[in-house]
Amino acid sequence: MLLIKNIGILQTPIGKNSLCGSEQAQNLKLCNAAILIEGGKIVEVYKDGELPDLSGYADCQVLDAQNRLVTPGLVDCHTHMVFGGWRHNEIPLKLRGATYLDILKAGGGILDTVRHTRQMSEDELYEKSKGFAREMLLGGVTTVESKSGYGLNLDDELKQLRVNKRLNEQTPIDVVSTFLGAHAIPPEYKDKPDEYIDYLCDVVLPEVKRQNLAEFCDVFCEDSVFDVEQSKKMLLCAKKYGMGCKIHADEIEAIGGAVLAGELGAISAEHLIATNGQGIDSMAKGGVTAALLPATSFYLNKTYAPARQMIEKGIPVAIASDFNPGSCPSLNLQFAINLGYLKYRMLPEEILTATTLNAACAINRGQTIGSIEVGKQADLVIWDAPNFEMICYRFGSNQVKTVIKKGEIIQ
Ligand code: NIG
Ligand code: FE
Repeated sequence: MLLIKNIGILQTPIGKNSLCGSEQAQNLKLCNAAILIEGGKIVEVYKDGELPDLSGYADCQVLDAQNRLVTPGLVDCHTHMVFGGWRHNEIPLKLRGATYLDILKAGGGILDTVRHTRQMSEDELYEKSKGFAREMLLGGVTTVESKSGYGLNLDDELKQLRVNKRLNEQTPIDVVSTFLGAHAIPPEYKDKPDEYIDYLCDVVLPEVKRQNLAEFCDVFCEDSVFDVEQSKKMLLCAKKYGMGCKIHADEIEAIGGAVLAGELGAISAEHLIATNGQGIDSMAKGGVTAALLPATSFYLNKTYAPARQMIEKGIPVAIASDFNPGSCPSLNLQFAINLGYLKYRMLPEEILTATTLNAACAINRGQTIGSIEVGKQADLVIWDAPNFEMICYRFGSNQVKTVIKKGEIIQ
C-alpha cells in the first residue's frame, strides 16, 4: 500500500475514452490532494486535505509530494525504439539540401537502419533499447508503443518484435507492440512493392499473429514508399487477423493516408504534417485519433500538423515522440509537449490529455491507464513543478521529480 500526500495540484483528464473538441481541454484539478494505491491500482483519491484513516495499515508507505503537481504517467503512443546504429551521417547531407525522401530513395535512411538492425542479435538490440526504456521512464513515460519496421524480412521483424515483448516483460515500462513491416521496400524487393506487400500478408503477418507478437499493424503510406492501395491491402489483411490499424499518414505528402485511415476506421493516423481538409473530414467521420509528432516536424525542418483545426473538427489529438534514428533521434516526450504548446498552440490541459488519456486510447489502453481514477493502474508522475503550464513552458530539462509505476516508486 502507498499513500501519496500533499499533492499541490492533482491534474488529470477523466474517463476511459478519448476526448475531443472542447472536452480535450477539460482536466480535473484537485488541490491539496492525496492518492491511495494498493495492488498497483488507485483505490482512492482525496482532495482538500482529506486523508484516509491509516490506523490498522502499519505497512502503508507514505510519500510526501511536497505541494508538487501530480499527473497520470505519460503515454508515448508512437516510437521506433528498437533499432541498430544511428544516422548522424545524414545530417551533413540534409544541411546541403537533401530531403528525407531523397536519402531514402538513394538506399539510405530507413534502409541504412535496416542494415544495422539486421546485423544485431536480439540480445544486443534488447540491451540497447532497454537503455532507452529506462530514460523514457525517468522522463515520465510509463507506457510506450514500439514499432518494428527495421527488419523487413520474417526473421528480423520477429526479432524486433521479440525485443518489444522482452522490454514489456522484463523492464518496468509497459510496451505495446506494433508490426510495421510495411515501413520501406527492402532491397530484396526493390521496385516490387506489390510483391513485398504480398509477402508481408502471406508470410510475415500470419507468423506475427501466430506468435502473438503485435497488437497493431502500421504502414508508411507515403510518396515513393507505399501508396494508398498497397497500404489498404496491408491493413485489410491485419484487420482480418483482428489487429488494430495505424497509418503513418500525410507525413511528407498528402497522398490519401488520412482519408484511408477514416475509411478503414483505423485507431490512429500518425504524423499528418501535410494533411488537408479531406483527410481531416475523413478522420473525423471514422473516429480516428490523430497522433501528432511535433519533434519530427522540428527535426525535418517542416511545418507543424494543423492541430487546432483537428480539435475544432472533433478529432481526438494525441502527441507522441516518434523516437527513431532518422527523423527524430530524441525520446524526450517533454520536448514534444513544449512544441505542442508553442507550435500547435494547444492549451496545457489539451496537451495533458494528448499525452495521457488520448495517447492511451490510441493504443487501446483507455480502460486501464491515461487518467488518475479509482480502478486505473497507478502510473503517476510527481513533477518538480507547481502546475502543468510549467511543463509546457520550460524546455530542455527533465522536470520529473518521481515516477510511480504500477504503485512502485521508480528509483
Ligand atoms: O515516423 N516515416 C517513417 N518512419 C519514421 C522514421 C523512421 C526512420 O527514419 O528511421 C517516422 O518519421
Ligand atoms: Fe514514425
